[in-house]
Amino acid sequence: MTTVSTKFKTNNAPLSHLPPLAVNPRVRGAIDLIIDELKREQASMTGARGSDSNKTEAYAAWMSRNNELRGRPTMYPYVGAGFGHGPLVQLADGSVKWDMLSGIGINMFGHSDSRMVEAAIEAALSDVCMQGHLQHNTDVLAISELLSAEAARVSRLRHCFVTNSGCMANENALKICQQKTQSAPRVIAFNDCFMGRSTTMSQIGDSAAYRQGLVQNILVDYMPFYDPAQGSRSTDATVRALKQAIARYPKQHSCFVMEVIQGEGGFNVAPREFLVALMQICKAAAIPIWIDEIQSFGRTENMFAFDTLGVGEFVDVVTVGKMTQVCACLFTSDFNPGPGLMAGTFSSSTSAYHIGLRGLEILQSGGYYGADGRIAKLHRAFRECAEDLVARRGEFFPPVVDSHGRTLPDVIGGIGAMLRLTPLGGDKDRISALLKVLFEEGVIALNCGHGPYHLRFLPPIGVMEPAQFKPVFAIIERALQRVP
Ligand SMILES: Cc1ncc(COP(=O)(O)O)c(C=O)c1O
Repeated sequence: MTTVSTKFKTNNAPLSHLPPLAVNPRVRGAIDLIIDELKREQASMTGARGSDSNKTEAYAAWMSRNNELRGRPTMYPYVGAGFGHGPLVQLADGSVKWDMLSGIGINMFGHSDSRMVEAAIEAALSDVCMQGHLQHNTDVLAISELLSAEAARVSRLRHCFVTNSGCMANENALKICQQKTQSAPRVIAFNDCFMGRSTTMSQIGDSAAYRQGLVQNILVDYMPFYDPAQGSRSTDATVRALKQAIARYPKQHSCFVMEVIQGEGGFNVAPREFLVALMQICKAAAIPIWIDEIQSFGRTENMFAFDTLGVGEFVDVVTVGKMTQVCACLFTSDFNPGPGLMAGTFSSSTSAYHIGLRGLEILQSGGYYGADGRIAKLHRAFRECAEDLVARRGEFFPPVVDSHGRTLPDVIGGIGAMLRLTPLGGDKDRISALLKVLFEEGVIALNCGHGPYHLRFLPPIGVMEPAQFKPVFAIIERALQRVP
């Protein structure tokens, strides 16, 4: 019998989030049969392989039709077959690749994970496909409950409003902060931050290309992020800049939005002392602190990255997304906004709620977190493989110099399961070329950073085994030899 999990309690009466049909014994038997077949089909998928020659032509035609419809080529010629095995994904041309990106961190249990398939079938047995803010089922409460309970253990966060995208969660966070500060017009953010693609978030995000041609109607004061090469001098410099911005625009800041671990910006990590110094200044000036964890949530040694960095006592608003499947804005009771500020026709799909909840429960209880948890082990395995490659093939790892002429202290970086490697001097064009070759050879990854550029890995933490980095690194080595 498959596992029927997740009950949550209201006034001591357990409420199942499963639809009635999903607990019918005959239906459970049918689900078991599907799961058995799934596992049988998966058994032979154990490594990367090339495409089927008889599918190449149809695949190329499909890709070019896809590019025509979008109006531009996609970064990779990726069309999934709808099947995989853990970190391995099958494409429609029959090839199998190591998915070290997992949809930029969303597919935390990789591909065709039996527990996620089971949750998706249960969701399909529900009465509706989409959940709304006006009418929703118990699944919506269950995930909100889980997220707020986890957050409440380590912060003053108590409330949770779910949405269907990270960007929309961020919009809600900004609205909450603006209302709280009586329409303060300015925002403080870090250099190189990324916040999503709405008109407002594109403006706050620190990338010129992403706001090209947009009307600029939000005022942002950018602060330098922590620079490990400068150490405590970096903290002093950002503290000075923050004090200056507050003195220049007193009572005009609605929030300091912090990606405490920068995703797009380059998997940059700041130490607690740096963050606390800034947060104390914000508290003294009554500037709300909003942490954007849409990329970092779930991927460090605690569920919340703000917890890993020990700054829970300071946070007022936190946004999460990606691996949660549904996104959310969490806030303290003090920041609970007035009625009418947050709503939306639908919040997300029933299957997103079921899969998100099942995944979060497994992460909570499956030994993923802590100094010796599965995530920490994955990090160590990645480092070992990376260090071995750098030691053996130093020619691919020349010193990396940033736009200010400073040398990067290490070509291996990141935290938890946000992993970064900087070959080829971090040169933009060569990193792009490498990513394409990697894809052909059987590893899917992405870049991050705005110069230097890095290889970015967001492996599916739920299913990736430390030993699986070995075949991945063998492909990385092979691909490096092919890049001009
Ligand atoms: C830190 C951060 N904030 C916000 C977003 C936007 O999330 P979404 O793409 O779901 O709108 C992203 C997405 O990459 C992100 O990394």
